[in-house]
Amino acid sequence: MPGDKSISHRAALIAALSTGKTEISNFSTARDCASTLGCLQDLGVSIENKKGKLIFAGGEKLTTPTKPLDCGNSGSTLRILAGVLAGHDLTAELVGDESLSSRPMRRITEPLELMGAKIGSTDGKAPLKIRGSKELTPITYKLPIASAQVKSAILFAGLNARGRTTVIEASATRDHTERLFNGFGVPVTTNADLSITLDGPARFTGGAITIPGDISSAAYFIAAAMLLPESELSIEGVGLNPTRAAFLSVLNSWGAGISTGDLQTERNEPYGTIEVRGGISAIAGDTERTLSRSVIPSLIDELPLLAVVGSQIDGGICIRDAAELRHKESDRLAATAKNLRAMGAQVEEFEDGLSVSGPTHLCGALIDSHGDHRIAMAFSVAALIADGETEIDGAECVRISFPEFFDLLQSVVVR
Ligand code: S3P
Repeated sequence: MPGDKSISHRAALIAALSTGKTEISNFSTARDCASTLGCLQDLGVSIENKKGKLIFAGGEKLTTPTKPLDCGNSGSTLRILAGVLAGHDLTAELVGDESLSSRPMRRITEPLELMGAKIGSTDGKAPLKIRGSKELTPITYKLPIASAQVKSAILFAGLNARGRTTVIEASATRDHTERLFNGFGVPVTTNADLSITLDGPARFTGGAITIPGDISSAAYFIAAAMLLPESELSIEGVGLNPTRAAFLSVLNSWGAGISTGDLQTERNEPYGTIEVRGGISAIAGDTERTLSRSVIPSLIDELPLLAVVGSQIDGGICIRDAAELRHKESDRLAATAKNLRAMGAQVEEFEDGLSVSGPTHLCGALIDSHGDHRIAMAFSVAALIADGETEIDGAECVRISFPEFFDLLQSVVVR
């Protein structure tokens, strides 16, 4: 698997802010991560690509860019970079594509303004005009929504605040920022009450990192192998951070029998090999399976795919407490419901979730990706098990997170 997208964004930002040299191997091939690198270069950071390895000299100072910073389709780039810029003595404008410009940004502008940054927006949306300050005020901030991007924006800003910055989560979200801060010399403490603290000012020391494979990308292959009988699939070097791996633990708690092994860690990030054998029939028993509450953040990006898988299991699947899905690259609840129905599934849509009946025989259909990579990939898996041909409109959007997706799928699926 190509390198994890979330870890790659953070590793690049840390490398740009480090005192010494950083070498990043297996950096994500996602268009989103290229957006992060492009923004850093426009901020004056020199990044060398040596045979696929990214080299950051370190010890550089971010400078006011001469043009707007283009975050493309990437929420992580825009939101986390806003946290970085808040703590620097410069002005910058952050812009994105049509999808990103329609997504909510008050969730970051509010805490960053409390810390002392000045941020202009268009009705709480991008473009954002940021006037940062080297002397931010530390805050204690209770996150109103579960968002690793917001948590990370505050922690990156906290690097340039004098004193203790505390973020309190209601549900644990992916903790790559905390693990990498600790891995690159900036202590961050995570407490039992889901509060996270960082003492500023602080700077990273550079070093080498190999980014583990992306578990959210692997998930499509794992699901395809489960759904296609007689499959056997082994994927090496995949990130197994518990705040990202609930896709595996949930399916296993239902009897899927996905195994993990060869566990190792890289800068506090666990990774290993995942093995799957075909056999959705292992998930038996006619009960509706509900995913809700605190598990939702740790499989947030896999929910459209789980809805597809749910259409194949006895009793179907119910997803609740996932209203955040309406604010992703597309309204993923609406897009998933519409496309599953087009393939013949019975779906009920709630404000905060979906109920999908199962098992259902899916039929090939015309799928609208809504320009959303995760919808295109989830319905590519549905297409593999559907009768007849499926056409996915706008499928090239997979490059946002996983440009190799179709070639790799082609290489492992036997007709
Ligand atoms: C991400 C956090 C999640 C996730 C996104 C990546 C990150 O978004 O959906 O794909 O890298 O921090 P939210 O922070 O909006 O939940």
